[in-house]
Amino acid sequence: MTKLWQIAAEALEQMPPETRFRPEDEEVIQRHKENLLAWTPELVKAFYDTLFAHAPTKAVFREGERPDREKTLEEWWRRTVEGPLDEAYFAWMAKVGLVHVVRGVENPTMLSMAAFVAEFVERKSRALGLEEADRLSEAFYRLSTAVGAVITHGYDRYRALALYSALDNVAGMEPALLKRLTVEEALSLLEELRREG
Ligand code: HEM
Repeated sequence: MTKLWQIAAEALEQMPPETRFRPEDEEVIQRHKENLLAWTPELVKAFYDTLFAHAPTKAVFREGERPDREKTLEEWWRRTVEGPLDEAYFAWMAKVGLVHVVRGVENPTMLSMAAFVAEFVERKSRALGLEEADRLSEAFYRLSTAVGAVITHGYDRYRALALYSALDNVAGMEPALLKRLTVEEALSLLEELRREG
């Protein structure tokens, strides 16, 4: 787990303080918990409809996998809305990032879908005319940025580790090989974490 906490901390510390997710963002999310949880089915459907409507993202999924993925996104959303959005949450996001590396989902897709969630909250809170729509939207943009920073930093760290472990072969290394080694490094950490329980 330590490695994940480290990845998360390294990513968040690189963000200028003005851009970070703040305690007041978590508070506004808490005040709107009921609405946010009520939007779960709509968010999950919109999220996967979007991924399944685009051939490259659709290709990531195995036959019949969608119901399980909907369940994991529902759980992520509940844990996100209920909080706490603390170090453990961001370390978990580092792990979630690696799980996606293993499935071949790269940073542009992860960042765009993190933004998709923030946009969804903005659209819903404005449509409902929530008095705090601006503050709630800002909280989710900050959160999506922080989650995106952690996930992309994890990708970079594991890509670098993969490169170092293949250092002897770096000259002339095929991009496909580096990608496979990145996946292998991510897999070996995930296996280590599984053994730790
Ligand atoms: C903000 C963006 C995303 C979030 C928050 C998210 C969240 C999650 C979570 C919490 C899990 C379960 C992780 C675990 O087992 O520990 C998961 C798994 C998965 N997600 Fe995502 N996801 C995101 C984007 C995507 C995208 C863009 C794709 C595909 C294009 C995708 C495909 C998958 C797949 C295939 C798995 C199963 C991984 C496995 O266990 O083999 N996700 N996701």
